[in-house]
Amino acid sequence: MINPESILSFEEYKNQISADPTSIEFALALDKIEELQSQRDEFEFPTIESSGGTKSIDGDLTDKCTYLCGHSLGLMPKRVRKNIAEELDSWSKEGVHAHTSKRYGRPWVSFEDAVVPNMEKIVGGIPGEVTIMSSLTVNMHLLFCPFYNPTPTRNKVLMEAKAFPSDDYAVVSNLKMRGVDPETAVIRMEPREGEFLLRNEDIFKIIEEQGHEIALIWLPGIQYYTGQLFDIEKITKAGHDKGIMVGWDLAHAAGNVPLKLHDWNVDFAVWCTYKYMNSCGGSVGGAFVHSKYATDFERNRLVGWWAHKLDTRFVMDNKMDLIEGIDGFRISNQNVLSSTAVAASLDVFAKTSMEALRARSKVLTAYVEFLLKAMPNTSKNVSIMTSSNPEERGAHLSLTFADGLIDHIFQLMNEHGVVADIRRPNCIRVAPAPLYNNFEDIYKFVRILNMCDFTPNN
Ligand SMILES: Cc1ncc(COP(=O)(O)O)c(C=O)c1O
Repeated sequence: MINPESILSFEEYKNQISADPTSIEFALALDKIEELQSQRDEFEFPTIESSGGTKSIDGDLTDKCTYLCGHSLGLMPKRVRKNIAEELDSWSKEGVHAHTSKRYGRPWVSFEDAVVPNMEKIVGGIPGEVTIMSSLTVNMHLLFCPFYNPTPTRNKVLMEAKAFPSDDYAVVSNLKMRGVDPETAVIRMEPREGEFLLRNEDIFKIIEEQGHEIALIWLPGIQYYTGQLFDIEKITKAGHDKGIMVGWDLAHAAGNVPLKLHDWNVDFAVWCTYKYMNSCGGSVGGAFVHSKYATDFERNRLVGWWAHKLDTRFVMDNKMDLIEGIDGFRISNQNVLSSTAVAASLDVFAKTSMEALRARSKVLTAYVEFLLKAMPNTSKNVSIMTSSNPEERGAHLSLTFADGLIDHIFQLMNEHGVVADIRRPNCIRVAPAPLYNNFEDIYKFVRILNMCDFTPNN
């Protein structure tokens, strides 16, 4: 296992390596450094051709594409094929007995046991705080139920103005269902005029001034559009100091940056597993409820039979006996095939640690930033919306371009097998995923971007 302490900063590597830092030799030298090795071989990569590309500068169309889209959908771990084939085998050979079969070590009735210990390490939860269930937005609704408790004088939700649409819809629809008017009860924080990122001091000011009316703070760990990493610990504490529940959407943070949800005293959090956790589209979601609520059985909750203790669940006497902790917030039996993908992916995470991944990730992202600023064309034509402070961002950088250029730039990237994503009117998001991207990927991406014609209206 790689010791995170052995990983230097990008600047230190730059000083150590004799090659020109804008050359391919420099990228290849970084890729050879022992402590910077990735888990790349654990993943299946689309080729340039299968990702829709038609051109290769100095290789061939069957080469791996340059995949920088792990913030949207992670690549498929090779183990997923094997593990899913095993579960299909179990289903085929054992039918209903697959629920209790130990044939492949993952009895379906307690499938979460194959996932949760690894997941706890990734998000910093202790046993009983973390589970897999439903999906991200569904889990928002499920956990707003116990943790958003409006009263006539304290019913507001503090969130960001540019929240991911699903978060906005979930908050608004949940408030309506509770008889609270979202028009007056949702406080949407905007960055200052001319800025993209929310400042901590502005968040703390609102909490200080309006905290007595706020029932819930609902924020993303990392903002999907700007890549801003929020100070989860400090914001949670500021909320608690004013008696506010604090919940987090960790879609872009889980598996990207180390989290310490238990130590940070976060009330609840939800995330998806298909981005940095490399499971399939729409895969089962992750959820956290702090252990301080483990036996708070009086709290409102929407549950089903999977919240009932396992040893008496099948007695079917319709007398709910809730599991302590997060599993007591569940509804349905596990989606086996989807959870299998998560289990396989988290086995790859278990080969390393979030601290080592984060240290490597900082070098990767700093290299993207360095190359964009060092190459002649990109240095003049690409702006980075994401913070330049590594402590205020994860893996992903949001790049912006002059008006009217983005479709042409994105097309050129796609033609050359660079997979990222576009957020019109003028943003392209790129993320070197800490588990599988290497420095050569970044070199290839910036070289292609540097070939673009940035003349307006071309
Ligand atoms: C920040 C954020 N919140 C919510 C969602 C919605 O996720 P789901 O469709 O899994 O509910 C996404 C999806 O990408 C997201 O990025």
